[in-house]
Amino acid sequence: MKVRSLGIETSCDETAVAVMEAHDGGCNLIAEELATRPEEHGPLGGIVPELTVRQHLDLLPRLTSRVREKAGRDGFSVVGATSGPGLAPALLVGLAFGKALAWAEKSSFYAINHLEGHLYSPFVSRGEWPVYPHLALIASGGHTLLVDAIHSRQRSILGTTRDDAAGEAFDKLARMVGLGYPGGPAIEKEAREGEVGKYALPRPMKGAEGCDFSFSGLKNAARLLLEKKPELALPGLPRSHFCAEAQAAIGECLADRCCRALEKTGRKVLTLSGGVSANQTVYRMLEEAARRCGAKLLTAAAGWNTDNAAMIAAVAARRALDQADSSWGTDADPRWSVALTP
Ligand code: KG4
Ligand code: ZN
Repeated sequence: MKVRSLGIETSCDETAVAVMEAHDGGCNLIAEELATRPEEHGPLGGIVPELTVRQHLDLLPRLTSRVREKAGRDGFSVVGATSGPGLAPALLVGLAFGKALAWAEKSSFYAINHLEGHLYSPFVSRGEWPVYPHLALIASGGHTLLVDAIHSRQRSILGTTRDDAAGEAFDKLARMVGLGYPGGPAIEKEAREGEVGKYALPRPMKGAEGCDFSFSGLKNAARLLLEKKPELALPGLPRSHFCAEAQAAIGECLADRCCRALEKTGRKVLTLSGGVSANQTVYRMLEEAARRCGAKLLTAAAGWNTDNAAMIAAVAARRALDQADSSWGTDADPRWSVALTP
């Protein structure tokens, strides 16, 4: 059986629509449209819910038309929309639009967990379905999660952040030194000129029991450092050194927690997804950590690590192939957990 699914992603500040074609042997992307307007949010240092909702209302019908044109006559027989976790009013836009579109086109409809999309992205970006079991690190602006993916319908959370998410830590540290939003790419760029170790920042939770994360200590240490050295917030080499140290600190914390989870579970595949996985230094640190623990690191191909609709379309296609019941009655759930008990 072959299916074509249209995926919709509006859980945060990206508006995205994609069509995937899938069969039991794998899947591939047919068409995709994605828009975000960081410049509207940037000066305010984070996303503004009202602006985000207006953006989704404005862009979603237009992007959908463009994707349908690109996808051509074959159309789609399945619609999937992110229904959580995320920003409640933003989720509502995609969910209501997706259900209406599916109804109008006599398609089946699936409400998709955004984090399950991230779990799929390292695999489906290569045209493959997830292999089980595997250990997954999702590191984005809203989440830092270590998930033991036992099989497609059973997952448990081994570790999560006690305060800020890894991407949020990048964003907050970037803002402190006068770099824009999103902070991760800005810190990565700035860090290229800098050296690790010129300034000392802590590695919170490194070596601690369990697999949880914490980044608030890093933020506090950075604040104290900046009080003593205000020049770190100005363009120049000191700021580059600060960014290199901050990036290394976050990367080391992530690598340490992944190592512990790999040792605990004995999994041989570690996947990395979410916006932070776009970071080359973090990637190299995790690759090395996985190798030390006898595992292989698999990350999403470029363009698939940050929020996108192709990963949502892929999960919806898998549901259809598995002949799962449609989810017309599902509401938006801003706190929908990725954990799953069979
Ligand atoms: O997965 P994502 O696009 O959206 C959420 O679901 O949150 O992740 C966005 C986050 C932001 O915090 C951003 O700063 C971070 O991912 N990010 C990065 C990089 N690119 C995006 N962090 C570090 N290095 C990057 N190159
Ligand atoms: Zn995300």
